Amino acid sequence: LKIITSIKDQKDYCNSLTKKGEKISLIPTMGNLHEGHEKLLSQAGAIKNNKIVSLFVNPLQFNDINDYKNYPDSIDSDISILERNKIDCLFMPVENEILKGINEIQCLRLPDYMNILCGKYREGHFLGVFKIVMKLFEIIKPSVAYFGKKDYQQLIMINYIVKEYFEDKIKIVACDTIREANGLAMSSRNNKMTKSQRNIASFVYKELVALKEIIKADRNYNFKELRKISIDTLSVMGIKIEYLELLSSNDFSEIQKNNTDNLMLFVAFYISGVRLIDNIEV
Ligand code: PAF
Repeated sequence: LKIITSIKDQKDYCNSLTKKGEKISLIPTMGNLHEGHEKLLSQAGAIKNNKIVSLFVNPLQFNDINDYKNYPDSIDSDISILERNKIDCLFMPVENEILKGINEIQCLRLPDYMNILCGKYREGHFLGVFKIVMKLFEIIKPSVAYFGKKDYQQLIMINYIVKEYFEDKIKIVACDTIREANGLAMSSRNNKMTKSQRNIASFVYKELVALKEIIKADRNYNFKELRKISIDTLSVMGIKIEYLELLSSNDFSEIQKNNTDNLMLFVAFYISGVRLIDNIEV
């Protein structure tokens, strides 16, 4: 595993590969790698491209300074996971260097659907992701990049970026959410919870599955009523729902006439101050 921290060295490394006609796969991360990331790494391993993981906890995408300061860090274990998964290169940029001039990156306009769900509750978050991903794509020039479906709204924005700014020349691979045995979606933030809190958090996924069953079984479902019952049930367990929405998976539009095609349930919630998100296809 080659570890690179300077942008110039990373560009040189990538240019030397592309000159030889080799292609690059990029897996962008904020570290604290878990089984969900390993799934991205192993999917990337299935093709012959050179595999680069970036690790940078991007302050621009945190709307809460304490969330940023407390973001878990586990570099030694991250490196052994990358080695185990035969990743060729780890790009760990230095904050001053990667953030220099980043605010000059022009974001013409994100689609309106980026202002709902997490875009509504985490001011500036997606703009922060947008800027860092643009910068990583420019430095590394990958042919393929891997993103998890747990951050579904982020995934849709990345598809938009590639279409608008990179002429669709980067292939985006979406990887399924990996779950703990109890159903809780893997997340670096799970480390901030006790075992019993993680167990309680898993009831949100169970509730999503129950809602999905009801929606599929009864075309006359009333989502507003269903949502109220779910929120009440979960709040008794100490879970505070930030949003729970049933929307189109293509463009997050509202569902018309109890449609049952391309639907997705999206949730964000707090448990003991830890904010988590999840989603399932219906
Ligand atoms: O999903 C993440 O871990 C981050 O949002 C990303 C894509 C690495 C950008 O900082």
